[in-house]
Amino acid sequence: MGENYVLQLKNIRKEYPGVTALKDVSLGVKPGEILALIGENGAGKSTLIKTCSGAVVPTSGKIVINGKEFSSMTPQLAAENGIAIIYQEFSSVRELSAAENLFLGNPIRRGILVDKKAMEREAEKAFAQLNIDINPKTLVGDLTVGYQQMIEIAKAVKQDAQVLIMDEPSAPLTSSEVESMFKVCQLLKSQGVSIIYISHRLDEVMYLSDRIVVLRDGEYIDTLITSETNVDELIRLMVGRDLKESYPPRDVKINSEEIVLELQNVSGNGTEDINLKVRKGEVLGLGGLVGAGRTELGQLIFGSAHKTSGKIIFKGKEINPKNPRQAIDLGIALVPEDRKRHGILAEISVKNNINMPIYKKISRMSVIQSKKEVENATTYQESLLIKTPTIHQSVKNLSGGNQQKVILGRWLAANSELIIFDEPTRGIDVGAKFEIYKLINSLVESGKTIILISSEMEELMGMSDRIIVLAEGRITGELQRDQFDQEAIMRLASRVQEA
Ligand SMILES: Nc1ncnc2c1ncn2[C@@H]1O[C@H](COP(=O)(O)OP(=O)(O)OP(=O)(O)O)[C@@H](O)[C@H]1O
Ligand SMILES: [Mg+2]
Repeated sequence: MGENYVLQLKNIRKEYPGVTALKDVSLGVKPGEILALIGENGAGKSTLIKTCSGAVVPTSGKIVINGKEFSSMTPQLAAENGIAIIYQEFSSVRELSAAENLFLGNPIRRGILVDKKAMEREAEKAFAQLNIDINPKTLVGDLTVGYQQMIEIAKAVKQDAQVLIMDEPSAPLTSSEVESMFKVCQLLKSQGVSIIYISHRLDEVMYLSDRIVVLRDGEYIDTLITSETNVDELIRLMVGRDLKESYPPRDVKINSEEIVLELQNVSGNGTEDINLKVRKGEVLGLGGLVGAGRTELGQLIFGSAHKTSGKIIFKGKEINPKNPRQAIDLGIALVPEDRKRHGILAEISVKNNINMPIYKKISRMSVIQSKKEVENATTYQESLLIKTPTIHQSVKNLSGGNQQKVILGRWLAANSELIIFDEPTRGIDVGAKFEIYKLINSLVESGKTIILISSEMEELMGMSDRIIVLAEGRITGELQRDQFDQEAIMRLASRVQEA
């Protein structure tokens, strides 16, 4: 081949029982380029890049690094050959400092002792080199996910990676953290490092990458030059049909008389004097910057945190849920933003995960129990387009985005009257996003009420009937549908209250 590639994947195939995750996929990365890898949930992106470290052993195919051929890799081999990977679910050690994490598994020693001082000095240099502002002594548990990820990047740079592979690095980051990560990527690129960048956010891909590889259903579809393509074309290639990023229409008469939830002067858990009403059949959007207190407010209503003052009135009665179980019994559900930490049971099946909240209910009808379970799980598998060979598959074998859909399905199965969605489409591909929007619509059409927390401005405006904006734990404004405007929301979101 005439081209010079640092890393090439040749005809990579990966078969699992019942699933062919990769069907002879080939791609090449040029020196100093940013190559984006895109595709729907379950397309095979993570599986493909895991073959580069040996985390996945391909059924057939070759990995070629600087002309050297391998039929499978190990983490050590990858590191020696200049390949570094930051996984979709990377985990830093929270109890160790930034410097210790940077040197994890490979500490600087003085004799037999670990030389903490030297590691801190080196870490300081490594962070400075990337313009990352982290004190090497800080415990990683005290850093935001954004900084934790910067440490992972610094680790890759420290081991002189020629190719840095990042699997959905922006998913957990705030927008300013994403900006700093982009700067680091561009700095690395200017130093000749190649980057493989996986993301569902097509605007990022358009902004950052030089070329884009599209996968669909484990197959290589196409490679595009970023400056010669556009978002619509990418979506069409990813989903294999025309699909606009849009919002389905909804037909609901909101009953302004019937208040499902009312908060009166509620404070606590980082929120301050919250007053709001949610009407039956309404989608109330909560806008604000990360840290504005939206998740915290959701937790108060759901009983996973407690108010210090004020009243929560649900369907005309004051409630004080001590824990989520009580809130669920009252008819309140919360689909958490951090779905990994909050309760996916990776070892058990899709079916059992989805049916979790209703086991109590269906076990009363013991005879039809298993039929009901299958029906229920199948309903949500279909409506959320959960990609799995069967509903009996353990959740750990699903792709990251499909695991999230399982958790969504579980909460929907709980059949609650008020559902709080915290960032419901994060990490979810474009096609499935639209399905989730349709699902939100059908929920309100069937008389349920929704609170939607979203940092995606378009989504918030596209889906809400009304938006309440928070900043620093307080409500700073409310917009009706005909007043929706990105700038107006941003202004309210960044408004700091005079004390
Ligand atoms: N250990 C496994 N056992 C069985 N099937 C698996 C296993 N790992 C992955 N798969 C399947 O391989 C396919 C590709 O998964 P992969 O995680 O690579 O998708 P992805 O493109 O990264 O998706 P996402 O955007 O959701 O992260 C999926 O259908 C998944 O269910
Ligand atoms: Mg993935």
